[in-house]
Amino acid sequence: MCGIVGAVAERNITAILLEGLKRLEYRGYDSAGVAVFTNDGILDRVRRPGKVSELDQALAATPLIGRLGIAHTRWATHGAPCERNAHPHFSGQNLAVVHNGIIENHEALREQLKAQGYVFTSDTDTEVIAHLLAHKLKDLHDLTVALKATVKELHGAYGLAVISADQPDRLVAARSGSPLVIGLGLGENFLASDQLALRQVTDRFMYLEEGDIAEIRRDSVQIWDIDGKAVEREAVQYGDNAESAEKGEYRHFMLKEIHEQPTVVQRTLEGRLSQQQVLVQAFGPEAPELFAKVRNVQIVACGTSYHAGMVARYWLEELAGIPCQVEVASEFRYRKVVVQPDTLFVTISQSGETADTLAALRNAKELGFLASLAICNVGISSLVRESDLTLLTQAGREIGVASTKAFTTQLVGLLLLTLSLGQVRGTLAPGVEATLVEELRRLPTRLGEALAMDSTVEKIAELFADKNHTLFLGRGAQYPVAMEGALKLKEISYIHAEAYPAGELKHGPLALVDNDMPVVTVAPNNELLEKLKSNLQEVRARGGELIVFADEKAGMSNGEGTHVVQMPHIHDILSPILYTIPLQLLSYYVAVLKGTDVDQPRNLAKSVTVE
Ligand code: F6R
Repeated sequence: MCGIVGAVAERNITAILLEGLKRLEYRGYDSAGVAVFTNDGILDRVRRPGKVSELDQALAATPLIGRLGIAHTRWATHGAPCERNAHPHFSGQNLAVVHNGIIENHEALREQLKAQGYVFTSDTDTEVIAHLLAHKLKDLHDLTVALKATVKELHGAYGLAVISADQPDRLVAARSGSPLVIGLGLGENFLASDQLALRQVTDRFMYLEEGDIAEIRRDSVQIWDIDGKAVEREAVQYGDNAESAEKGEYRHFMLKEIHEQPTVVQRTLEGRLSQQQVLVQAFGPEAPELFAKVRNVQIVACGTSYHAGMVARYWLEELAGIPCQVEVASEFRYRKVVVQPDTLFVTISQSGETADTLAALRNAKELGFLASLAICNVGISSLVRESDLTLLTQAGREIGVASTKAFTTQLVGLLLLTLSLGQVRGTLAPGVEATLVEELRRLPTRLGEALAMDSTVEKIAELFADKNHTLFLGRGAQYPVAMEGALKLKEISYIHAEAYPAGELKHGPLALVDNDMPVVTVAPNNELLEKLKSNLQEVRARGGELIVFADEKAGMSNGEGTHVVQMPHIHDILSPILYTIPLQLLSYYVAVLKGTDVDQPRNLAKSVTVE
């Protein structure tokens, strides 16, 4: 959620910290701050509510020059987004802390520290860490040793970076439940919550593992594991082919990412298909043997990734004949789950760092699942590291907070999973795999055709300019597509949107329908089409305006209060992937009309690393 950057160097590091924050801003953006041990020998900080650009302006007016510093962009959990609550937090004048995560026992610690005379100036849980560390330093003197003692008293999740004016030779860091990576330079070293922040200064990285403490100096890095044992972590080198964080010709990252879908879907398929089959080894060398044992699938994910899982349930049951359950991670992790024998536990995540999904995976390991599989977009994420099997989607970096290309590539990954399970277990109907492999090969072209409707959808978006509520309807595997459409619209345009299975309409939501409530629906040409058409009649009869994305062969056309957008014909199984595109475009253009911050919608953050 929040972003952390740190640096210890021979040169002035303020511009490096600021550039790192700009690159991390997609993670959290309601306030930002930087603390630097200045060349005048004092620890100084500048913090501002709002975006990193506000901090940038403040630093232009009051520059901080120094060779050691930490910085933070915040997504508020404890305390409102204001300067007082922005990080870095100080204890006294000599100690600064930035933190990503949530300290669950902060109230008890706060009371203890207050009783010991510490004065709190913010409402954050982070300030507790600063004072606790300062307190430990009184006896232990060494910053690294004091940090080791401090984290023993913290319950919750944290990625921490700390500097002290008394020991300005180092930056110290701790990871538990919130990712941190060290960037290795020549005679200088860096720290960040995401390597993207440091691509400007290095291409060599060392990932901290759960429970690690690190002491980072200009010319050395030392790491201790959760048991306090000195350990080496592997340094990884990245080439230059990392996705650019530039918008290019597009007005927003979201639009760019929507238009990247043919390419990234193609990439997700590359090397995973033979002439007529899915290569099961794409899930790892053990996959064929393991998949043969699978009798059930449990999918767990959050938000958009959860919707991908909901689509997969239709595929797994229909094509591979495997019972499948899907649940949001925040519920699954606290439920007393009864695990069926031989159940494959599947997590889906763009970031691979979503706190609830990770916690669900960790719980699942204790529950007797057959094995765990992560369908994930980030190869170096915690979820991938902690799962038995992995399928990496190849969406590339997704910067827009609203997930788009991650979703469609997840769907591709899940269809590959369905076909692999069905293939290994011999449960696919004859010819199905070869047909769908062929259809998958054509999918990027079909997606391109759907994207060509961009300007048609832009016009349709005008219907929503003065609306406050919208209903999305779908049937079968299009129901989760409708859910995803509603989520996109609400998160970036702030229009209240709800999704219903079309057949549920008359069981309640129909009461809401009038001419102020547009109803959006997706209508591929399948066996549910006629039933869907009847549901749409129910809407029209109540004066509801219909926006229908319909197969060109569905026999639907424009009429009074009915706007039909013809979609290219596609095999029904792949239709959830195709029909997602116009719904993404619709949300995007409605948000642009409404003038909202498309890439960084209010109150949200990319990569939800807190519970
Ligand atoms: C919505 C969105 C979120 C994420 C959710 C899970 O557009 O992006 O709902 O899908 O926070 O994130 P990941 O996939 O990173 O686990």
